Amino acid sequence: MEVVILKSAKSVAATAGDLVAELLRVQPAAVLGLATGSTQLALYRYLVQQYLHGGLSFKQATSFNLDEYLGVAAENPQSYRAYMDREFFDHIDIDKHNTHLPDCGETENPRLVGPLYEQKIRDAGGIDLQLMGIGGNGHIGFNEPSSSLRSRTRVKTLTKQTLEDNGRLFKKDEFQPKLAITMGIATIMDARRVLLLATGQSKAEAVAKMVEGPISAMCPASVLQMHERATILLDEDAAAGLSNRDYYDWTHLQNESLKARFGGEHG
Ligand code: GLP
Repeated sequence: MEVVILKSAKSVAATAGDLVAELLRVQPAAVLGLATGSTQLALYRYLVQQYLHGGLSFKQATSFNLDEYLGVAAENPQSYRAYMDREFFDHIDIDKHNTHLPDCGETENPRLVGPLYEQKIRDAGGIDLQLMGIGGNGHIGFNEPSSSLRSRTRVKTLTKQTLEDNGRLFKKDEFQPKLAITMGIATIMDARRVLLLATGQSKAEAVAKMVEGPISAMCPASVLQMHERATILLDEDAAAGLSNRDYYDWTHLQNESLKARFGGEHG
């Protein structure tokens, strides 16, 4: 697990965005795993700027989002499909036919969505780079505490904490979904590279458990300790609970100097 602590939330977005851009430069038809949430907004803004002014193209890329609410139609502004269109897809050159979310039509059986989504990911050749945030309770996607570490895309019931955390995004009388369809933890672990972004003090405790706690279904993000290529990008506030901080900074310096001498990992 590579832990990188940066000065600000803005640097977290820029560093993640540069990694996405670097991947697309060498592999224009890459398969991206995408996420929603407020943490990702700065990243999408950065990538849109790179598309508009930096020569970045998503034309050949394919994407799979981590999760989608159940019982919220795509046209509803609260759906994750609407979020992705509004914040990202509408502003870049990606072919929307190649953008996927685990959404469930009104008459569709939600239990069948997961296996189909898994098949689509396999058909696309698997995910090259999975972006994600972390919930205040350590969830990734909507894999809530106690989720099976071997889970696949399926329906999950949201915890009360998640409903409260995300409640700020819903108006008083608006329907707030209590169910979602999310990639499973094993689905996420299959991604060839994982990039988790966390910013702000409200994430400090979950980040410390993820990086330095035991691997446990009670902190689903902790399973990333077992991923071969997981990078955790943090701002100072989100890193505040880490006890091994000096080592992460020291490692980052060594990696930067290796990069300066030998180039980025994509050459
Ligand atoms: C939601 C999403 C998660 C995301 C989390 C954190 O619950 N399903 O994928 O990581 O929110 O969101 P935020 O970045 O808004 O804190």
